[in-house]
Amino acid sequence: MTVVLAVDQGTSGTKAVVVDDDGTQLALAEAELRPRYGDGGVVEQDPAALLASVLETGRRAVADAGRPVDVVALANQGETVLAWDPATGAPLTPAVVWQDRRAESECARLAGHAELIAARTGLVLDPYFSAPKMAWLRRNMTTDGVVTTVDSWLLHQLTGAFVTDAATAGRSLLLDLDRADWDPELVELFGLADEPLPRIAACDEIIGTTRAFGPEVPVAGIVVDQQAALIAEGCLEAGEAKCTYGTGAFLLANTGTSAVRSASGLTTSVAWRARGRTPYCVDGQVYTAASAIRWLRDLGFIGSAAELDAMAAPESDGTLCVPALAGLAAPWWRPDATATFTGMTLSTRPGHLVLAVVQGIAAQVATLCDLVAADLGSPLTRLRADGGLTRSTTLMQAQADLARLPVEVYPSPHATPLGAAALARMALDPGLSLRDAVGDWKPSAVYEPEWSEDRAAEFRATWRAVAEASPRKEASPG
Ligand code: G3P
Repeated sequence: MTVVLAVDQGTSGTKAVVVDDDGTQLALAEAELRPRYGDGGVVEQDPAALLASVLETGRRAVADAGRPVDVVALANQGETVLAWDPATGAPLTPAVVWQDRRAESECARLAGHAELIAARTGLVLDPYFSAPKMAWLRRNMTTDGVVTTVDSWLLHQLTGAFVTDAATAGRSLLLDLDRADWDPELVELFGLADEPLPRIAACDEIIGTTRAFGPEVPVAGIVVDQQAALIAEGCLEAGEAKCTYGTGAFLLANTGTSAVRSASGLTTSVAWRARGRTPYCVDGQVYTAASAIRWLRDLGFIGSAAELDAMAAPESDGTLCVPALAGLAAPWWRPDATATFTGMTLSTRPGHLVLAVVQGIAAQVATLCDLVAADLGSPLTRLRADGGLTRSTTLMQAQADLARLPVEVYPSPHATPLGAAALARMALDPGLSLRDAVGDWKPSAVYEPEWSEDRAAEFRATWRAVAEASPRKEASPG
């Protein structure tokens, strides 16, 4: 039996699960993380807190499992970057989180190259991705050390290796998507030609060993979090799609082994590299999902995320929300967009606003479902869903109603670490196929659409018009 410690280092928290061969969970440890939000689109994390959370949750989960593990897997939050000293491993800057908007200036500087960048990488020139943030960090924070995504730093801390994986590299704007390798011309364009870049490893490769969680074991199963969830949910063939409702909501659809560029304003990236194959996926992003719910909590509209369903009014009374609290991604690509509430009157209560935020998240994902279908050339027949917000029946029902699709909820709240664990098992057992490593699952709940087609279409048309008119963020005076 292969026992895996799979750590999911996310934006709002870190979780560590210990699982056996068939994905049975033996132990779980979680730590909450709170990014620092500041004026001008600042979203930062303390790298020391990220590392401490990985070590602490990992050690706690191993202790609770009551037995040593055979391998350690790591899923990461993707496009978050920092500078660090390769000699000592010490962080030199805060981690600049994927939601941070400050690299808009770098994107503006490179606007003339946007088409080349999109054609080469499958992505859109937007501050969400790693390279603009790396360039911004170099210009504004430090020129010392190396600048990488967080996974490379954490993996260096654990193993001493200097690596990233193909799926994480595919979120950078520095990867030639067809070759799935660094593109020197793009590296130069972003002003990063003198930067040592990590080796791009396969997701099912043993990249080193660690003693961080007990006796020395291999580290394998390294992958960006959204793609890890795609794997766990068994979206292994072209046309299969999932949405993860985490800090943001991310819809990914497998497109097979050709890196088809989206014609709908979505992005294309590496789904994973394993068993010598590199399949691709199209993806669409809602930058604020759980972070919009956290915002409601911080403003006092709800006491906790668990109260979401109880606090949401049964009907929105005409109140509508585009929760663009960190800009809009596909298909609008408006990093400067701000959130909007419309339709409020003197009778509007907090519960209407809460429901409007929930419906706004669902409407944005429903828009992405249509775009994915356009790229795939056939409508989705169902949507698999995972992530903390799938606990909200209000959100899941709104999703089914607005996307007009059955929504199948993944039975474990830990799809991301389970996907990384599957890759780690493959690393230790060369005869194991991805399909067998993932195994079968049955949804814990299936939400069927209840709204009529007309009602959903009317809501979505109104919502989309408001989204398209999203006001831009004005620069702060001075
Ligand atoms: O692209 C960023 C995304 O992968 C972060 O995931 O779970 O922190 O919303 P999460």
